[in-house]
Amino acid sequence: MRSAAEVSDGELAAWYGRADRPWLRANFVASADGAVAVGGMSTGLSGAQDRRLLKLLRMLCDGLLVGANTLRVEQYRPLTLDADRRRWREERGLAAYPRLVVVSGSLDLDPDLPALAQAPVRPLVLTSPDAPTARRDRLAGVADVVAAPDLRAGLALLRTRGLDQLLCEGGPSLLGSLTADDLVDELCLTVSPLLAGAGAGRITAGAPHPPRTLAHVHTHTDPEGFLYLRHTRPEAPTS
Ligand SMILES: NC(=O)c1ccc[n+]([C@@H]2O[C@H](COP(=O)([O-])OP(=O)(O)OC[C@H]3O[C@@H](n4cnc5c(N)ncnc54)[C@H](OP(=O)(O)O)[C@@H]3O)[C@@H](O)[C@H]2O)c1
Repeated sequence: MRSAAEVSDGELAAWYGRADRPWLRANFVASADGAVAVGGMSTGLSGAQDRRLLKLLRMLCDGLLVGANTLRVEQYRPLTLDADRRRWREERGLAAYPRLVVVSGSLDLDPDLPALAQAPVRPLVLTSPDAPTARRDRLAGVADVVAAPDLRAGLALLRTRGLDQLLCEGGPSLLGSLTADDLVDELCLTVSPLLAGAGAGRITAGAPHPPRTLAHVHTHTDPEGFLYLRHTRPEAPTS
C-alpha cells in the first residue's frame, strides 16, 4: 500500500480528481473505534498527512459545504489556499478559491465569524424558506443567503451558481441529512490510529435511513499509521 509521504501533491490530486458530473464528496476523520471527535473537536483525531489531504480536497472542489455547528465549534478560518494550490486551480480554469457554503436552518451565525467576514470569496449560506428574516438580513452583509425547501433542491441551486463539485466537511448531522436524501457520491474517510473511547458520536447523526452501498476505490496510509479510505457510489466514475 502506498504511503502519502511518498506521494506528490500532483499524484494525490490525480488519485482523487474532479468528477465529470455534479458530485458531492464528503471528507471525515474518525478514530479506529469510530469516534468523530475528541473533546468535542476533530483536531485531536487528525495528523499532518490528514491535514494535507483536507487542503488538497479543498483545492479540488468548487464549493465547501459545512454544517453551521461545525463552523461554530471548529472555529473555521477563512477558506484560503496557498499559492501553489491557487495556481493549480487557475491553470485548469477554476476560480482561485473554492466558495464556502454554510448550511443552516436557524441562521444563528455571527456575521463577524472570520470564515464569513474575512472570506476571500463571498460565502453562501444555504437555508430554508422559513428562516428568520432578521437573521437573514444580518448575514446578507457578508454572505449570499439562499433558501431551498430541502437539501436536494439546495444542491441543485448551488449547481446553477457553478458549484458542481462539492466537498462536505461535516459535521455528522449534515452528513446524516445528506445520506438520508441519498445525495453523497463519495466518502473519504481517514481512520486515525487512536482508541477514543466512549462518548463521541459517529461521523453520521440524525434519523435512520436505508443503508447506501459504496464501492471501494482506494486505500493509502502514512508513516504515522493513519489509513485513508476512498469509497464512491458503485455506478460512479472513479476520477
Ligand atoms: N471528525 C470529523 O471529520 C468532523 C467533521 C466535522 C465536524 N466534526 C465534529 O462534529 C461536531 C459538529 O457536528 P454536528 O452534527 O453537531 O453539526 P453539523 O452537522 O456541523 O451542523 C448541524 C447544523 O447544520 C444545519 N443543518 C444540518 N442539516 C440541515 C438541513 N437538512 N437543513 C438545514 N440545516 C441543516 C443546522 O444548522 P442550524 O442549527 O443553524 O439550523 C444544524 O444544526 C463537532 O464536534 C465537530 O468537531 C467532526
